[in-house]
Amino acid sequence: MDALHIIARRAPQFQPRIAVVLGSGWGGLTDHITQAVQIPYADLPGFPQPTVAGHSASLWLGYIGAQAVAVMGGRKHGYETGAVDGMAVPLQVLKALGCHTLVQTNAAGSLRADMPPQSLMLVTDHLNLPQCSPLVGQTGSARFVNMVDAYDIELNRLAALVAIEKNALLFEGVYAWFLGPQFETPAEIRMARLLGADAVGMSTVPETILARYLGLRVMALSFITNFGAGMSGEHLSHAHTLQQAQMGSAKASQLLADIIARLPQT
Ligand code: HPA
Repeated sequence: MDALHIIARRAPQFQPRIAVVLGSGWGGLTDHITQAVQIPYADLPGFPQPTVAGHSASLWLGYIGAQAVAVMGGRKHGYETGAVDGMAVPLQVLKALGCHTLVQTNAAGSLRADMPPQSLMLVTDHLNLPQCSPLVGQTGSARFVNMVDAYDIELNRLAALVAIEKNALLFEGVYAWFLGPQFETPAEIRMARLLGADAVGMSTVPETILARYLGLRVMALSFITNFGAGMSGEHLSHAHTLQQAQMGSAKASQLLADIIARLPQT
């Protein structure tokens, strides 16, 4: 793993425990990293070269509170190439560096009238609607990953507790993955709601599957940028997602930093 050697050379002896993937609107988290070493993805073989505006292309190593973290400023999405295993190498590298937990973030559309734009939602479960897996092609019995409690109950309890302590409203719900890049139709949004989803988005699920395959604990947070298609008069666009995400970025990143600082270190 070339990337592993490059990281070890740039951040000697550093052992991150918590891997973090930043989605749209969560970039402010990097302001909370101390003793930061920033490595452009361009220097890291196998890391994604993002094509999506609003996603940064660096790995950050450092501390949030006392927690040693490896923060990926951007991710590879299934809709960029059709392949859904674009995060396999980075997650393998972060696990090999010492990470035992993956904290994911994303921007998402809300399916609930009581969860408006600017809300934060802790993901308790997901719907893999495209039924695509980054594990296709793996061999051996480890590929049959148990997805019960894929989103770690203990970590979610901790996140909910931190939110209460910080007086922040944190919804909980099911995240439905649509491949994208087009937004959903109103009929698809009604379908997702009927199936039990609370939010929709175009990421996160492949990484959760990969992380569980690697034995990492997973937590995921959604920043709600809009209501699902057809639920309000909003015109959905990537620019709208980014604008909404930017508005709430500081608050979301503060809560995320508070949660990360409190996660189990081992
Ligand atoms: N749908 C899919 N992905 C999204 C949305 C949405 O409404 N909002 C932000 N990301």
